[in-house]
Amino acid sequence: MKATVSRRAHFNAAHRLYRKDWTDEKNDTVFGKCNNPNFHGHNYELVVSVTDAIDPDTGYVIDIKTLKDIIKEEVEDAFDHKNLNLDVPDFKDLIPTAENIAVVIYNKIKPRLKATSLLEITLYETPRNFITYSGN
Ligand code: NI
Repeated sequence: MKATVSRRAHFNAAHRLYRKDWTDEKNDTVFGKCNNPNFHGHNYELVVSVTDAIDPDTGYVIDIKTLKDIIKEEVEDAFDHKNLNLDVPDFKDLIPTAENIAVVIYNKIKPRLKATSLLEITLYETPRNFITYSGN
């Protein structure tokens, strides 16, 4: 018997989408407002979902307290109230689009789970725009 356990989390962070090797004009064309040189913030909403067999001893897929602590350590402590471009080493050479942020979050959380557990990351950059990544 398998089930999926999900926990919702939140962080605020600033970013700028641009490539150093492109002209200002090309960055504007591709990234629009998200290329604002003075950065801008988003209220990111995160849903972390773990799928695995229900442990017959505990009745848990994962202790939700454990999942909460992993998200706090790997995501909230690392990203909340940070400038993703300047403060977070993961984005030193990686454009902090919602897609790339979701991949970075996946790669931080996955090693903390049981090897059998499937992980899915859903990241909302705005209430209407969200990204899903599950390691493919
Ligand atoms: Ni943006």
